[in-house]
Amino acid sequence: MKKIFPMIVFSCMTAVVLLICIYRSLPREDVAEKAPEVADATMAVDATPETDTTVEIDAMSETEAVQGKEVAGETEATQDETRRVALTFDDGPHPVYTVKLLDGLAERDVQATFFVIGENIPGNEEIIARMDQEGHLIGNHTYDHVKITDLSVEDACEQVEKTSALVKEITGKDTEYVRPPFGSWRKDLECSFEMIPVLWDVDPLDWTTCNVSDVVRRVLEAVEPDDIILLHDYYESSVDAALLIVDALTEQGYVFVTVDELILE
Ligand code: NI
Repeated sequence: MKKIFPMIVFSCMTAVVLLICIYRSLPREDVAEKAPEVADATMAVDATPETDTTVEIDAMSETEAVQGKEVAGETEATQDETRRVALTFDDGPHPVYTVKLLDGLAERDVQATFFVIGENIPGNEEIIARMDQEGHLIGNHTYDHVKITDLSVEDACEQVEKTSALVKEITGKDTEYVRPPFGSWRKDLECSFEMIPVLWDVDPLDWTTCNVSDVVRRVLEAVEPDDIILLHDYYESSVDAALLIVDALTEQGYVFVTVDELILE
């Protein structure tokens, strides 16, 4: 018993010391572990309303602003960058193909510019009248398709004046827009009415082929906003191509105007 008693006392004391140590250590650990959580929670609460919400609101405003700008930009682009294009037809009127073209343009509510040859007008007066009535612009392509630069000033003026007189008899208007055959124009030409030479931007050389899709492809590959497209209403393939071009460009958002709208700006 003498040996056991001190062992029991020692064990009890050790146990007490251990218990004290455990007791001290436990609460400290709890506080130590919880304190940061509380601190974090406080920060989180603080952060949520002040930081996160603000950021969210700012972010929303920015998003809305960007979208607003984009929407505004799109609207401006639509208004400022209307894709306009002018179809022009030389060498008519043709008694069959020009009528077919006018029918097709009327169906699509599209206006074009016709540079007519004077000698093709007699017998086709109704076609000229119809062009005018349906809002097309009638221009001048000389009387018998001559190269202006090969002529004297007098002869050159006679070519355009004779054609203009025939048109004026039908429509009451002069043909102030002139497309010089072969694109050759002389600037010193002063005839009895004001003349504005009109060349072109896109020339698919439609008169060199009967292949409609070739003509369509050549135009669609080259065309850009505000371009003037050169075609001839004297060939059926050109007329068929023209109407397909109208449909394709309409789908691309192009609006068809007469050349005066592109030139007079
Ligand atoms: Ni011509």
